[in-house]
Amino acid sequence: MSESKPEAVPVEAVETLALSGSDSNQKQNITPWDVEGAVVDGVRQAIDYDKLTNEFGTRKIDEALLERFEKVTGRPAHLFLRRGIFFSHRELDKILDRYEQGKPFYLYTGRGPSRGSMHIGHMLPFVFCKWLQETFDVPLVIQLTDDEKYLFKTDLKLEQVRENAAKAVREIAAIGFKPEKTFVFSNIDHIGGAFYRNILQISRCITFNAAKATFGFNDGDYIGKIHFPSVQAAPALCSTFPEIFGDRKDIPCLIPCAIDQDPYFRLTRDVAPRLKHKKPSLIHGRFLPALQGPTAKMSSSIDASAVFLSDTPAQIKKKINRYAFSGGRTSLEEHRQFGGDPDVDVPYQYLTYFIEDDKELASLAEGYRKGEISSGEMKARCIEELQQIIGSFQERAKAITDQMAKDLCDPNFPRPYAALAKK
Ligand code: TYM
Ligand code: TRP
Repeated sequence: MSESKPEAVPVEAVETLALSGSDSNQKQNITPWDVEGAVVDGVRQAIDYDKLTNEFGTRKIDEALLERFEKVTGRPAHLFLRRGIFFSHRELDKILDRYEQGKPFYLYTGRGPSRGSMHIGHMLPFVFCKWLQETFDVPLVIQLTDDEKYLFKTDLKLEQVRENAAKAVREIAAIGFKPEKTFVFSNIDHIGGAFYRNILQISRCITFNAAKATFGFNDGDYIGKIHFPSVQAAPALCSTFPEIFGDRKDIPCLIPCAIDQDPYFRLTRDVAPRLKHKKPSLIHGRFLPALQGPTAKMSSSIDASAVFLSDTPAQIKKKINRYAFSGGRTSLEEHRQFGGDPDVDVPYQYLTYFIEDDKELASLAEGYRKGEISSGEMKARCIEELQQIIGSFQERAKAITDQMAKDLCDPNFPRPYAALAKK
């Protein structure tokens, strides 16, 4: 296998990752819709997560919090926590306090169905959420923001986002949440009643100024976009789900998401106490990098940046071999002599998300640095792992029946939350 850098980056990726001027400087830009590293002297930088936590005003998850997490739950921390993949939070400690005291809370996460299939980056918050649900044994609500994708991606038709949402339900079902404690809903289908009442109340707590300052909206944006943050905020208030929580207003949620979603919930945290609800807590993940490298996130809108859960083994192999940025040397001889850099090597970086065994991972990194493992071998290991994860996901997805998908989206599907609501 050749040791060369990946061949020409595909056209679509070039357009997005390209820089305007050769000596331009630009700050990093992280919003729910765009994720780009800073540009310094014309060179795009990796995303600086320390800077981001400072700018957003979130807390890093430190050793002490991890220890407390393990002590309170009695379970070893998930590898995403151990490896700093979920690295930041807002008041996670309050959720741990409640768990310790036996007080109820729930999990809230979501997905914007811009395509019919998720990529492996989208899977991270869901895989983590499944683990959190197992660990805490709590209800989980999952919002499909088909409305958001319709408003923000104007090449998409209404029918298309609805179809994508229906496919997303099946993919989410295949993650393997507890069916009796999980509720998945499409905004377009489900909003009304208590949900809409909360949206209205939230929308009267957020001024256009605040929305502009948080999201950078401008005068040319459609008004639907400006209103949308109230819709993503509402599921963070428990009274949005009377089927689950009865008439209680005092049950907070924990929101696992990648850090791009934080702006929505910063606003929500301001609004919640004004509506006599508890503030949501958050736990933030890093982005799985684009195949082209750590300056951008894996994104559905750039086909060649992403490995999709619908990809075939052959497609996975081709994408990694062709597009994955390599931290190897330009020739095998040089690689053997000087070694490679796993810190920028995309196949190795992906493996840090997938391989459970800390020892195997450490030996891969060390072997790479010493030049004993070639970049072709690193790619092969990554391909094998991805084919296995995606293959078993596809097997599970095949086993999801129409009825299972329907039950997951039925607000009246019996979910034994009554006990919880009485506490
Ligand atoms: P969406 O569909 O853009 O992304 C779904 C979830 O995946 C995260 N994510 C990633 N994580 C790691 N690596 C990546 N490359 C990557 N790309 C996306 C996102 O942060 C998100 O957690 N507006 C939301 C839907 C939503 C939501 C929520 C998400 C509604 N309510 C509550 C989280 C929590 C959206 O379009 O997500
Ligand atoms: N444990 C996951 C599963 O059962 C597989 C997995 C591990 C994964 N790490 C991941 C999937 C990172 C996506 C991204 O499906």
